[in-house]
Amino acid sequence: MKSINLLTNILFVLLPFSFSFGQSVTIPIETENVAIVLKTDGNNRLKIIYFGKSLSNINEYEQTGEVFNFRSEGASSNNNAYAVAGIDNNFTEPAIAVVHVDGNNSLDLLYESHSTSKTSDGATLTVVTLKDPVYPFFVDLYYKAWKDKDVIEQWSVIRHTEKGNVVLNKYASANLYLNNRDYYLTSYNGSWIKEMQPVETHLRQGMHTIESRLGTRENLLTSPNFMLSLDGKATETSGTVMMGQIAWNGNFALQFETDVYKNLHIVAGINPYQSAYHLKPNTSFETPRFVYTLSFEGKGKGSRNLQGWLRDHALLDGRGERLTLLNNWEATYFDFNQDKLVSLFGGAKKLGVDMFLLDDGWFANKYPRNDDTTGLGDWEVNRRKLPDGIPFLVREAEKEGVKFGIWIEPEMVSPKSELYEKHPDWVIKQEKRPEIYFRNQLVLDLANPEVQDFVFKVVDDLFTENPTLAFIKWDCNAPVFNGHSKYLERKKIPQSHLYIKYSKGLQNVLERIRAKYPTVPMMLCSGGGGRSDYNLLKYFTEFWLSDNTDPLERVFMQWNYSYYYPAIAMCNHVTDWSKDKSLKYRIDVASMGKLGFDIRANELSERDMKFAQQTVRNYNDFKDILWHGEMYRLASPYEDDMASLMYVNEQKTEGVMFNYLTNWRDVADTSLRPIKLQGLDKDKTYKLTEINLYEGTNTPVDHQKVYSGEFLMKVGFNPSVSKYRASVVIKIKSVK
Ligand code: DGJ
Repeated sequence: MKSINLLTNILFVLLPFSFSFGQSVTIPIETENVAIVLKTDGNNRLKIIYFGKSLSNINEYEQTGEVFNFRSEGASSNNNAYAVAGIDNNFTEPAIAVVHVDGNNSLDLLYESHSTSKTSDGATLTVVTLKDPVYPFFVDLYYKAWKDKDVIEQWSVIRHTEKGNVVLNKYASANLYLNNRDYYLTSYNGSWIKEMQPVETHLRQGMHTIESRLGTRENLLTSPNFMLSLDGKATETSGTVMMGQIAWNGNFALQFETDVYKNLHIVAGINPYQSAYHLKPNTSFETPRFVYTLSFEGKGKGSRNLQGWLRDHALLDGRGERLTLLNNWEATYFDFNQDKLVSLFGGAKKLGVDMFLLDDGWFANKYPRNDDTTGLGDWEVNRRKLPDGIPFLVREAEKEGVKFGIWIEPEMVSPKSELYEKHPDWVIKQEKRPEIYFRNQLVLDLANPEVQDFVFKVVDDLFTENPTLAFIKWDCNAPVFNGHSKYLERKKIPQSHLYIKYSKGLQNVLERIRAKYPTVPMMLCSGGGGRSDYNLLKYFTEFWLSDNTDPLERVFMQWNYSYYYPAIAMCNHVTDWSKDKSLKYRIDVASMGKLGFDIRANELSERDMKFAQQTVRNYNDFKDILWHGEMYRLASPYEDDMASLMYVNEQKTEGVMFNYLTNWRDVADTSLRPIKLQGLDKDKTYKLTEINLYEGTNTPVDHQKVYSGEFLMKVGFNPSVSKYRASVVIKIKSVK
């Protein structure tokens, strides 16, 4: 229980969650373990005086700033709560830069008021209003704090009542200031089939930026996720670490600026690249959310905070169920017809999965989609390949007892398509310049409401024609090149609004889809893992991590994604991409998320099919733990010759542990010592059973033996991973 003295109690009523001593106002923003403290200075400017562990006596927040030396020259302005450009008391990277109606490009922001309230979804929302003393220009800083998750969402709303448009040259969501000894930043490089490759940078001086300028498919080259170890490198179970994401389906920029006082200034938001925004009077501009957690117990706790927050508050149907599936992309590519597809349905049924997912290549007639050069935009069924249409396929799949899902890529257009011929002005391009293609295609102009209607109709028509359609895979393969919108030109809206209008246009479409089809599962896919932002995940139940389905690569990739996303959101498919790994290894790795297959199931040997069937049954048995339980990373493939992870249900009565060999060299050390389990109840007794074994295979795991939770967590368990046991899945169950 926190102690609050009488004075503060009174102030609490007048000004909830804040207190003022003399002139200054102190505003603590708290979760269970984390506190950010804002305080006004003698000039009424709002400063960040503390970012760290929460205190039990909230009166003490007021003095937190005193023990940090913010007073050295220049540093007293580095901790602005929202750094401005254009006045000379700020030498740090601005969070906001504007040009007023009269052409003046300075901004000063003084504290005006604030409020704190409980939101209907159970968070605490603090809104602080800042105002320029000269111009009628306002910024509202929002801090939404999720107490039990230690997660904070931060964003800003910018507005004014000047007599004309104010140009926003920069408009960050969040601005933070950290006073730690050391900053190790992990960011993620990527490209097609190489998503989420971690890079660690020791931040010591100047600016380090993580950014995207791709428009769509925004995290093809860089992920919007980051991890920041403070005061030395955090481990899975120890150390202070900040982890999060800028939740924006578009160009983003995360700036980390280390100042001369070794403090870290963070500015996060939409990337202002080519995006000056002309804000009309009496309207407001709401920035996307900067979502982060701060863990004082290492990366594992940080992950569980973010995963739990996503499941409960951001991911669509995060507490619900998912469909296992058989996809035909790698099994057929574009080469299929009706009979071939129908013959695959039996494979789905035999494997025991819930659904068949028809991928790319089912549409377009004048320019049939037989490869990736044609047809995007012409969303009527290809009559040659599929003479009886999609309804026939849905019926045939359902006759086999499996549901039917379909792939679309509705934001895109092929230069060879009827859509392009009919509506060249719907395409993002520079008319005076040669077209630039990415995967032979162009992006439709979602700033245009007519295009939004078209994209909505693609989905709506599919559901109207096929009311039992069970799943949509929504792909997006091209970034924006030659960013120019004919629609904006016609409407005399600045072209610098295009990237933002595109991102918001896509959200409009998805809002409409979800208003009409609230629950149907949809996979967010983007030429592999080009999109996985928390903003779009509001509309999607899951996302596609990468087209790289090599299981060894996947161990690493899934490991990296797991810092930010729960297993229920991550689609993993078993493919023939890397047949040098056993079917068991491939299935075991894919089982650590939302399981799917993308193989020619009818070509499996009887033994393999029997094995696969057993693994699907096992998956169905433990999927609830995986989807709704807590995840623990136990052994890192970056530090060991193997990877080990486990999931435990809320009651700590059941768990599942996955172990993978990641180094096939003879010198690999994989079973010398036990792996320490986590998340169990030390006082419970558990039995461990190895599952996903081919019939007749022996296991060194003694299924009769019992262990205390304490033993498993302090001493550990040895899954005996070796070349001959390259993947080992262990079911954990408490016994009386
Ligand atoms: C890219 C996706 O990542 C793949 O899974 C597949 O759907 C292809 N596009 C289809 O063109």
